[in-house]
Amino acid sequence: MRAHVITYGCQMNEYDTHTIQSELVSGGHQIVDHPDDADLLLLNTCAVRGKPVEKVVTVLGELRKERQAGRDLKIGMMGCLAQLEEGQDIARKFEVDLLLGPGAITDIVPSVEALEQGETGIERLEFREDLDTLIPPAPNALTGFLTIMRGCDHNCTYCIVPTTRGPEVSRPVESILAEAEAMRDAGVQEIMLLGQNVNSYGLKDDGLPSFAELLRLVAQVGIPRVKFTTSHPMNFTSDVIDVIAEEPNVCDYIHLPVQSGSDRVLKRMAREYRRERYLDIIREIRAKVENVVISTDIIVGFPGETEEDFEQTLTLFDEVQYEHAYMFIYSARPGTPSAKHFEDMPRKVKTDRLQRLIEKQKGYALDANRRWMGRTARVLVREIQSEGDYAMGHSDQNHTVLIPKSQVNRLGLHEVVVEHATPHTLYGRLAGVEPQAVPLAMAR
Ligand code: 5AD
Ligand code: SF4
Repeated sequence: MRAHVITYGCQMNEYDTHTIQSELVSGGHQIVDHPDDADLLLLNTCAVRGKPVEKVVTVLGELRKERQAGRDLKIGMMGCLAQLEEGQDIARKFEVDLLLGPGAITDIVPSVEALEQGETGIERLEFREDLDTLIPPAPNALTGFLTIMRGCDHNCTYCIVPTTRGPEVSRPVESILAEAEAMRDAGVQEIMLLGQNVNSYGLKDDGLPSFAELLRLVAQVGIPRVKFTTSHPMNFTSDVIDVIAEEPNVCDYIHLPVQSGSDRVLKRMAREYRRERYLDIIREIRAKVENVVISTDIIVGFPGETEEDFEQTLTLFDEVQYEHAYMFIYSARPGTPSAKHFEDMPRKVKTDRLQRLIEKQKGYALDANRRWMGRTARVLVREIQSEGDYAMGHSDQNHTVLIPKSQVNRLGLHEVVVEHATPHTLYGRLAGVEPQAVPLAMAR
């Protein structure tokens, strides 16, 4: 079949899309670049908040119209929504032909064969433990994802992920290293180790290294840049911080979701740490890792969050001075404990708080970026688009960096002198290039 995958949501989904595509190709199918050319359209869905679910419903509505108008198209739903009753109801309503849960993605080829035989309403929703596929890196890819574990054993009360992705399963270390080596040999310059909770890698299995040990082993494979996400503060131990400080190619960028600055809210969220413990980790990171950039995830307007609780989040931002933050409004997900037991608060309160937090964060992001002016960052340029004046890349600390296109004649790593900063972007020139008159975009 000619298949196209549309990916929503997190990096885990992107990785799963890559797996599905390579499985389909090895099963004799074809991946097409445009959805209009496909006879099988797979929606790799996200269910973490209400918005991505609404998006999928909209797309399914459009596809239904196309099918009613005579288009011969099979539709599959994969990803987190497929695993939920909510998604299964949607799938029934829109006559989705295949439901493939995140724990069953390696069933894709037999499922598509069944579709070809004319079967419909196929459901593969079990959690298999043998998801250990080696994915060939895409040719010319400068960056790649590498899954080291799947699932989540925490039970944060707002979160649907433990339901959709099942319990934690760590991959064997040999296959992780083999995949990293294959990426290195293919010229990949940066890998991102992926897991819902990378820090709990190996905790449940005898004989597996700890996450800190694994990180060191992967670093020593010799890829110029190694990143990882997502970390849980509960398992973010000093040995991990030491590896980041000691291994030169482990990125100076740490994403450490805090969710709230209030102990009362953290408790209701069933996060297993408190504000002071989190701040201890941040202080240790800042002390040991030079130039580190720290980002976080925050949920504002969790049920019962008082103005006082929210102010605790604001003061946490003053203490940590996050260089970057992903800030979300609480979204009640059907079936989660917080949706069952707590009442949602008025939307206006939530959006106002989000706005206040965004404003505060912007200030810290700008301060932090300005501190880079005049300094040299190592930037991975991934693409040079034909439009616009700039080539875009990102630094070891994960800043987005723009460089005048006229200076950049190849993709890959470059030393860049930072000349100008905004809250979200650094502008610079290649090291060795003389400073020029300030281009218009920078002068603004
Ligand atoms: N509402 C809002 N944000 C959520 N997240 C997870 N569940 C919810 C929810 N119900 C956020 C958390 C998590 C990130 C991936 O998504 O901040 O870290
Ligand atoms: Fe969800 Fe909490 Fe697990 Fe993260 S740690 S995936 S927020 S349950």
